[in-house]
Amino acid sequence: DWTAANIVDDAVAAVREQVGDKQVICGLSGGVDSAVAAALVQKAVGDQLTCVFVDHGLLRSGEAEQVKRDFVAATGVDLVVVDAADQFVGALAGVTDPETKRKIIGREFIRTFEAAARDITRSAADVEFLVQGTLYPDVVESGGGEGAANIKSHHNVGGLPDDLQFALVEPLRTLFKDEVRAVGAQLGLPAEIVWRHPFPGPGLGIRIIGEVTRERLTILQQADAIARAELTAAGLDRDVWQFPVVLLADVRSVGVQGDGRTYGHPVVLRPVSSEDAMTADWSRLPYEVLEKISTRITNEVREVNRVVLDITSKPPGTIEWE
Ligand code: XMP
Repeated sequence: DWTAANIVDDAVAAVREQVGDKQVICGLSGGVDSAVAAALVQKAVGDQLTCVFVDHGLLRSGEAEQVKRDFVAATGVDLVVVDAADQFVGALAGVTDPETKRKIIGREFIRTFEAAARDITRSAADVEFLVQGTLYPDVVESGGGEGAANIKSHHNVGGLPDDLQFALVEPLRTLFKDEVRAVGAQLGLPAEIVWRHPFPGPGLGIRIIGEVTRERLTILQQADAIARAELTAAGLDRDVWQFPVVLLADVRSVGVQGDGRTYGHPVVLRPVSSEDAMTADWSRLPYEVLEKISTRITNEVREVNRVVLDITSKPPGTIEWE
């Protein structure tokens, strides 16, 4: 019968059978799917697995640390971290078009992952497998979702060069998202990872409307961290599907903050309810929670003097602004 423990046992046996004594690599994105897939493979074949985390500098505040510290502590995984924030921000300089941003982020991701994979295969000749966090819905109609599945679909690791071709290990292929979460909890992953909202592969790069810069990333990370903390404090994490916070970096408006007039940026709160991200409705968050978020952001993030709420459903509005 169906229990998370049974799923783990079956998946562990299947991975051992598939992988034998070969080496395996896995890209971690910070999302649930890649984390749970990696944790399963770790349980199955232990130190035959090497994980790669490309830190592109576009994650939310604290999320890189969660991968580097908490995930490693929970699983004992052997992790290679590539600190590539300068490279990504540099490649995005002057770029404002959303699809161009996606292409650049995808391209840099591939380059970086490829270099890391090459280093690993050089030191361990028998790397034959690549873990992907593909879920059942991805198998049925490929697309959507987040996490490791998107390393392929959004970052095209499928397009690795010939000398870096791997067979795929997809331990989540038969599972739905809620089952993946149950398995993650069963494997002892921290709740912050297991219950993480879907997050786009290009990250905050597509939540800064305008050019991506270090300074703008810091502003958005601060505002986003406040929104997330207040949602959590209100006990509403599981009531929303996603809660993007968007920085309108090229828009300024007049405000009064502290001692005087400011000319700052707006941020948009975009909490949505959804089943599958294909359609979505704007979440009716309680006014007190919205008020707290607005007050804290405008008090604590100097460059932001206005907080607006997106009340557009999907369609016609997409969840993300880019
Ligand atoms: P939209 O904005 O199209 O988003 O309503 C639907 C879902 O997809 C996520 N999303 C992405 N995920 N790479 C990803 O991995 C992307 O380029 C991307 N764009 C949107 C979005 O967060 C939502 O869950």
